[in-house]
Amino acid sequence: MTSKVTPVTLKEKKSAGKKITALTVYDYLTAQIVDETGIDIVLVGDSVGMVLLGYKNTLAVTIEEMVHYTSAVSRGVRRALLVGDMPFMSYHISVEETVRNAGRFVQEGHAEAVKLEGGEEIGDKVRAIVAAKIPVLGHVGLKPQDALMIGGFKIQGKDRASADKIIRDARSLEDAGVFGIVLECVPAALAKEVTEAVSVPTIGIGAGKYCDGQILVTHDILGLTEGTAPKFVKKYADMRTTIKNAVGEFKGECEKGAYPDEKHSY
Ligand code: KIV
Repeated sequence: MTSKVTPVTLKEKKSAGKKITALTVYDYLTAQIVDETGIDIVLVGDSVGMVLLGYKNTLAVTIEEMVHYTSAVSRGVRRALLVGDMPFMSYHISVEETVRNAGRFVQEGHAEAVKLEGGEEIGDKVRAIVAAKIPVLGHVGLKPQDALMIGGFKIQGKDRASADKIIRDARSLEDAGVFGIVLECVPAALAKEVTEAVSVPTIGIGAGKYCDGQILVTHDILGLTEGTAPKFVKKYADMRTTIKNAVGEFKGECEKGAYPDEKHSY
């Protein structure tokens, strides 16, 4: 294992102009494989609600579920920085409840940082979590937990006023003490502006090439996810077809009595 990734490592990478890599992971086995590749950040994202649990958005995911998945992933991660994603309603009620829930990610989920969606409006909560010595990753641009307010998943920051708001949000997160900022679904030119406006690393998803790093969902890059993927997703494998072929072969061999053969029997 090369040395453990921390928020300091990520800041050093930005200063050195080295790209940061990150993936969303939900389980122990995948975490082991991803960690062995030397990925910098493993995020246990609330996208688990859509990818693994079949919900149409992330709003139904609970703190209990997130702590459970984070703990599973923690057992597979040795080198990467492990970030737990605070779900809807876990940081919306009060500063006190927010800090308590962030603490659960560390004490029960063994996370090394938490991620929250939002900008200026969550500054007090970010400050309080950081004051409790828990590193925070921000998240601006498209915030999937805003799905009910914005009517789905849409590119953000397309006009000057909304682009300026995203830049203000990123700056205020930096002031509040985040160690990095996820920039989701914004035009590449705006991501460049944000990346130049803050000293902390930006990690893009659907935000073009100018971010300091990139994050995608592991299931998406492996081609496991059903249906048409968003434009920014690049599939590096077609695991859905690979799995279907393997399962089909198993089924066929069982049905015709070819499995188990002598080699696979006692
Ligand atoms: O939930 C998630 O997986 C995320 C990333 C894609 C940034 O928030």
